[in-house]
Amino acid sequence: MKVIVLENAFEISKQAADIIIRQINNKHGSVLGFATGASPVETYKRIVESYERGEVSLKHITTFNLDEYADIDRENVNSYYYFMKDNLFGKTDVNFDKVNFLSGVKHEEAEAECERYYNKIKEAGGIDIQLLGIGVNGHIGFNEPGDEFMDRPFLVELTQSTIDANSKYFEAVGAKMPHYALTMGIGDIMRAKKIVLIATGASKAKAIKALVEGEVTPECPASILQLHSDVTIFLDKESAALLGNS
Ligand code: F6R
Repeated sequence: MKVIVLENAFEISKQAADIIIRQINNKHGSVLGFATGASPVETYKRIVESYERGEVSLKHITTFNLDEYADIDRENVNSYYYFMKDNLFGKTDVNFDKVNFLSGVKHEEAEAECERYYNKIKEAGGIDIQLLGIGVNGHIGFNEPGDEFMDRPFLVELTQSTIDANSKYFEAVGAKMPHYALTMGIGDIMRAKKIVLIATGASKAKAIKALVEGEVTPECPASILQLHSDVTIFLDKESAALLGNS
């Protein structure tokens, strides 16, 4: 694992965006795995700026997002589809026919939806770069701490830690946060050829220590990344604060 500690979120976003832009310019039909949440927002801004300067086109890429809340409509302002449209896709020339999401279907349709997504990633030839954030509890995608690493996409019941961290977005519009989500499994993430993870802020320090220096265990889902051959982790000083201390 390459662990790179930078001054702030802006510096991180420049380097993370650079890796993604280089990938697209080397292979116009790249398959990219994207994440939502606060961590990648600045990176998406840098990609949009590059697009506006004519340095990159997203026209031929295929995208797969990590996760989506269950029981939610894609036009809901809190859906992850909406987030990606707002932060990246709608501001570039991305071809929406090549944008893939786990859809926020009802529980009873989740199994078929997960199977569809797994096959779709396979048909696309796998993911070239998967961008990740990390939860304060060590989750990646919505793979919450548990007893096993899940291989394929699945329906997950969110933990209280995740509900506490994300409820603010729903409360802001007077809505209640769903307690279930559909997410890529750990296997789907690990099959990506390259992984880039971004974390900032002191609240992530414990999870980062467990990811980089802890044992590989489903109790910290991100720790599995130690076993991937091409992972770059971008941190600020706050999120890196516990590294190296026993
Ligand atoms: C979002 C996702 C989550 C987030 C994580 C960190 O698609 O998969 O794992 O990356 O919850 O969220 P932020 O970046 O908001 O701290």
